[in-house]
Amino acid sequence: MRIGIIGTGRMGLAIAELGVRAGYEVAISGRRAPSELRDIAASIGTATIASHPADAAAFGHIVVIAIPWCHREALAAYADVLRERVIVDTMNPFLEDRSLDAIHATHSSYVLARALGASRVVKAFNTIWYKELREHSTLHLPLERRRAIFLAADCERSKGTVARLVCDMGYAPVDSGGLLSGGGRQAPGGEFFGLHVDGARATRASGATLWRPAAV
Ligand SMILES: NC(=O)c1ccc[n+]([C@@H]2O[C@H](COP(=O)([O-])OP(=O)(O)OC[C@H]3O[C@@H](n4cnc5c(N)ncnc54)[C@H](OP(=O)(O)O)[C@@H]3O)[C@@H](O)[C@H]2O)c1
Repeated sequence: MRIGIIGTGRMGLAIAELGVRAGYEVAISGRRAPSELRDIAASIGTATIASHPADAAAFGHIVVIAIPWCHREALAAYADVLRERVIVDTMNPFLEDRSLDAIHATHSSYVLARALGASRVVKAFNTIWYKELREHSTLHLPLERRRAIFLAADCERSKGTVARLVCDMGYAPVDSGGLLSGGGRQAPGGEFFGLHVDGARATRASGATLWRPAAV
């Protein structure tokens, strides 16, 4: 399984590292030319390549969007390819001045999906700080005792694909609902934003469901 990542900042690289550790092939990309990303890719591991965003989108079965919300319009250039992919939206809708984009605060992933004409968008990893994501992976624990990563999507199959990735990375995938309902719970100010709980507590407290891929 391959992951293309658009955005090589704190969140994009944390996901790249976890993905490689989990056995996925990863292409990283950003605003900088691939030649400028080669050393970073090499430091993550031999399963990582540096590319242009269009190539990262074409490379991945899963494409992770990890750029600032206010730069999202750049993604329109790759919409044709992204529409065919499972898209993981990590973005929180903050503006350049760090204030919340009040218009899209609770449904930014839905807005992204509509703008791209994409039906396979999964909102994930947006509720956790990148440093914690790097450090709290616990592959040896059962899902109930791993840190929860919340997933919102309208396409169940895509949610399953990302749930598998979350499991492989050492976290517990917790289904928060559809892009609008679950997306709102995951958004800044929502009940799951910044919530540091394990899979068991996440499901007990909220009625959300622990997603258990077949082989875990
Ligand atoms: N940091 C966190 O803990 C955290 C937690 C939850 C969610 N998120 C979300 O994750 C996203 C990324 O946050 P971050 O903290 O990783 O930001 P960051 O460290 O500032 O990195 C942003 C990256 O996006 C790239 N980028 C910007 N515009 C681009 C474009 N038009 N095309 C391709 N790449 C572009 C930048 O490229 P250059 O390096 O070339 O400038 C940079 O690598 C945000 O939407 C944020 O809300 C972050």
